[in-house]
Amino acid sequence: MTAHSPVLPVEVLDGLVVRPGGAYVDATYGRGGHSAAIVERLGSGGRLVAMDRDMEAVEAGRSRWANDPRVIVRHGSFAELERTWNELGVAQNANGILLDLGVSSPQLDDPERGFSFSKDGPLDMRMDASTGMTAADWLVTASESEIRQVIRRYGEDPNARRIARAIVRARETHALTRTRQLADCVAAAVPRRPGRLHPATRVFQAIRIFVNDELGQLRSGLEQAVKILASQGRLCVISFHSLEDRIVKRFLRDRARPDPAFAGLPEIPVHARPVLKLIGKAVRPSAAEIDLNPRSRSAVLRVAERLGQ
Ligand SMILES: C[S@@+](CC[C@H](N)C(=O)[O-])C[C@H]1O[C@@H](n2cnc3c(N)ncnc32)[C@H](O)[C@@H]1O
Repeated sequence: MTAHSPVLPVEVLDGLVVRPGGAYVDATYGRGGHSAAIVERLGSGGRLVAMDRDMEAVEAGRSRWANDPRVIVRHGSFAELERTWNELGVAQNANGILLDLGVSSPQLDDPERGFSFSKDGPLDMRMDASTGMTAADWLVTASESEIRQVIRRYGEDPNARRIARAIVRARETHALTRTRQLADCVAAAVPRRPGRLHPATRVFQAIRIFVNDELGQLRSGLEQAVKILASQGRLCVISFHSLEDRIVKRFLRDRARPDPAFAGLPEIPVHARPVLKLIGKAVRPSAAEIDLNPRSRSAVLRVAERLGQ
């Protein structure tokens, strides 16, 4: 089994300001690199709620923390963070929440999950394999224009039109059910240029984002995180591409200033006041971290603090 090296581990711990008696949420457990660092700083009265929408991650977490009563591991999406938190009945609001977005190394490296075009496997790509449509199911039913839009919007791929047409042509003769079939189809439509990324890179990213509704989930997760954060609680979000980072940056900026509809009024009503304070600037991994862990290269960490109500 592949491990997952946590990205920006020191910076995340600094951002969360873990206190021994605090209650924390790792909303993207993965293989628990960040969780383990948080738990190390907890005292006997501290709590960590670890979540993941991938059952394999949850099982890994449950077996690792089975004997630690401070850690609760839940299967679920951070788009349901508020409900999960309320169901658990933790006696306080959260002092820190981490969202480390995207996919983990074990997901990418297991051909059976269908995330990677470099190894052949079923064209699945669901993070939560217990529900929803696989990438292969979607490619059977989607229209050419839907495929084009997904590739353009989520892959920011200038060849979206050509690739969508090639996919629709290919599926007239055989269903695209394997990662290799899709990668070959894309490579035939857009010849690879030396020194450039494989042409399927952006297409796989786009379909993965779509199949998992990653951007919609992120928007809900951010809203809900703010609701369950205690005063002075910290929100840390690591994104891996510009579509995610744009959403995070705008969300934090908008919540860190008064609602513009009330700008200029002598008194801002309570519901229109800022709820967050930005902490520092965006943090990126050092060259040394990227050398050790190349998957960290596109990471951006943003941190904000909940203001008192
Ligand atoms: C980059 S990995 C996290 C790695 C983790 N921090 C570690 O140190 O091992 C992202 C994880 O988030 C999970 N994930 C992605 N979107 C999610 C969502 N909406 N809700 C819950 N988990 C999600 C993925 O299944 C994956 O396991």
